[in-house]
Amino acid sequence: MNIILLGPPGCGKGTQAKKISERYGLAHVSTGDLLRKAVAEKTSLGLKAKEYMDKGKLGPDEIVLELVKQSLSGDVILDGFPRNLNQAVMLKKNFEADVVLNINVDFRVLVKRLTGRRICRCGAVYHVEYNLSEKEGVCDKCNSGLYQRDDDKEEVVVKRLETYKKETSPLIEYYSKKNKLKTVDGNGSIDETFIKICEKLNNI
Ligand code: AP5
Repeated sequence: MNIILLGPPGCGKGTQAKKISERYGLAHVSTGDLLRKAVAEKTSLGLKAKEYMDKGKLGPDEIVLELVKQSLSGDVILDGFPRNLNQAVMLKKNFEADVVLNINVDFRVLVKRLTGRRICRCGAVYHVEYNLSEKEGVCDKCNSGLYQRDDDKEEVVVKRLETYKKETSPLIEYYSKKNKLKTVDGNGSIDETFIKICEKLNNI
């Protein structure tokens, strides 16, 4: 099964994609993670992408597609790609989604989730209120210090949400017209949302 996960920043794409990939045996491909890895490794592609990420904008389509293409084999859940109509059209040449899951979350909840998120370099994700680590500021899995993503500062969060509205939200209509879209309410807890997602996936 191939899945595209759609939804605004902070709706829980990364959190749910991890759970879905474990439950259904899919490879989890996150363009945000791929880009952050390139930034950390200071590759030329990463340095270019950072300029856009720090401003809450989307990176150039060609750069992101190049990163994604290398991961499109076997059954996959795509998290954060496509992010605009052009990417959706480019993706279609290499990938056929069985379902597009759209996670719907209220705007004010999104801001709280993003500004309170703390991450670890091992990939673990926490939240200062909803999803705490056992010892404050320290990762449960590897004991490293947690930190805030540069683009989770409130001023960038607002820009990212604007970018989503303008560039990504038209994909809802695009996939709806193709009869691929299934929308899930993501305002509840992580587990509640996962149950709703599984109900949709089990009916495909
Ligand atoms: P990316 O990393 O994809 O960021 P995003 O889409 O903005 O999504 P996030 O990772 O911020 O949120 P999420 O929905 O995964 O939420 P999470 O599960 O972490 O992209 C970053 C940047 O890279 C972009 O701005 C862009 O510049 C660039 N980029 C990426 N893809 C691109 C593309 N295709 N084209 C061009 N540029 C691209 O949850 C958030 C927090 O909430 C966490 O703390 C979590 O613990 C908590 N949480 C999650 N679910 C719940 C819940 N149900 N209840 C309570 N708390 C919850």
